[in-house]
Amino acid sequence: MIKIADITNIEERKAIENIIRNYREDSGTVISLLQDIQGHYNYLPAYILQLLSRELKIPLSKIYSVATFYAQFSFNEKGKHIITVCDGTACHVKGGPLLYDYLINQLGIHGGETTPDKIFSIEIVRCLGCCAISPVMIVDDELYGNLNMQKISKILSKIRKEEMIQEGSK
Ligand code: FES
Repeated sequence: MIKIADITNIEERKAIENIIRNYREDSGTVISLLQDIQGHYNYLPAYILQLLSRELKIPLSKIYSVATFYAQFSFNEKGKHIITVCDGTACHVKGGPLLYDYLINQLGIHGGETTPDKIFSIEIVRCLGCCAISPVMIVDDELYGNLNMQKISKILSKIRKEEMIQEGSK
């Protein structure tokens, strides 16, 4: 079982130490602990859950029962940018399936999957509650309505460009 000292990435180790310290000092809840972990990794890595269980003396079964209860938590690594596609009736009628085909063609992944470069993940939901501007999708926190292929292409290009700039500045 992994210990904190086994985490060789200094940044990662510091982040985990902070999360553990905050939990101890503020007597946080398991939910807030998991939110912090997911905030750092974008998902809940199994080895970190085991480490937290031992360090904080929380039964692993309790951690998993909380993590599986709330839909916000994921055990699979997600991309940096989450594209939430609506598959509700209004979006479906207004051409959603065609746009979805276009999107999966562009990214090479389907709903529930992440691109190999970990930049994009696609998630599918039933209705985003804004049928009047369907078809819609959310990219990260931003809602896009009245979608068409050109708009999707622009959104993807913008993100790819930003990612290339960030990568180049490292
Ligand atoms: S069906 Fe897509 S927002 Fe309602």
